[in-house]
Amino acid sequence: MSNTGRSTVPLLAARDLVKAHGRTEALRGASVELRAGEILAVTGASGSGKSTLLHCLAGIVRPDTGSVTYGGERLDQLPEQRLSELRRTEFGVVFQFGQLIPELTALDNVALPLLLAGARRQEAQAKAGEWLERFGVRGQEELRPGEMSGGQAQRAALARALVTGPKIVFADEPTGALDSLASEQVMTALTHTARESGTAVLLITHDAQVAAYADREVRLADGAVTPLEVAA
Ligand SMILES: Nc1ncnc2c1ncn2[C@@H]1O[C@H](COP(=O)(O)OP(=O)(O)O)[C@@H](O)[C@H]1O
Ligand SMILES: [Mg+2]
Repeated sequence: MSNTGRSTVPLLAARDLVKAHGRTEALRGASVELRAGEILAVTGASGSGKSTLLHCLAGIVRPDTGSVTYGGERLDQLPEQRLSELRRTEFGVVFQFGQLIPELTALDNVALPLLLAGARRQEAQAKAGEWLERFGVRGQEELRPGEMSGGQAQRAALARALVTGPKIVFADEPTGALDSLASEQVMTALTHTARESGTAVLLITHDAQVAAYADREVRLADGAVTPLEVAA
């Protein structure tokens, strides 16, 4: 796949997703496409179904009906084992906070996905160090998440999401717990690195300043993507 490219064929496509949590219909026919290398913002009010959409797209949750296609494969129909392999190798995820493992240092947190992929410890740690540096988390390698600022922890979480060279990073309100300066630093680091490596980003946010970093924006309302924005 080209590094520079936003091709017209979607890398990931969701069609008519429906997903209920008990009696709440979080998604009611949501459709969205993500192209290779594209940074797409998904915005919408709280409760509009953004996180549920991300979970379906990333293969964390299966939709009740509708399809998710990734590189020609029906993600929503894959066996759990293949899904977890995809999540480990081709997808990276970042949530609002707390996804780093509290007992591990920043360096070991970032090295972990490499170790899971079979890298040797020394090699994994060297690469993790490079990625922390790339995200401006310098001199913090030996700190545990609780000892870092929110912005530093989020940048370490981004380094962890990107260290394996995923095709797509799914970020659910990655700046939701940060002040505006830290938020800008996180978004700059994320978009710069994603563009450099040709990684597509699905970015959920309710902050217009954060959405402005994306190439394109779609809006969710009541579990569906509003048609006006789809056409844009
Ligand atoms: N695990 C769950 N159990 C019950 N209801 C849920 C669950 N997750 C989400 N919901 C409900 O589904 C709707 C959409 O939630 P969500 O996808 O988290 O929206 P958003 O991320 O836009 O705030 C909301 O009404 C929410 O309360
Ligand atoms: Mg949410």
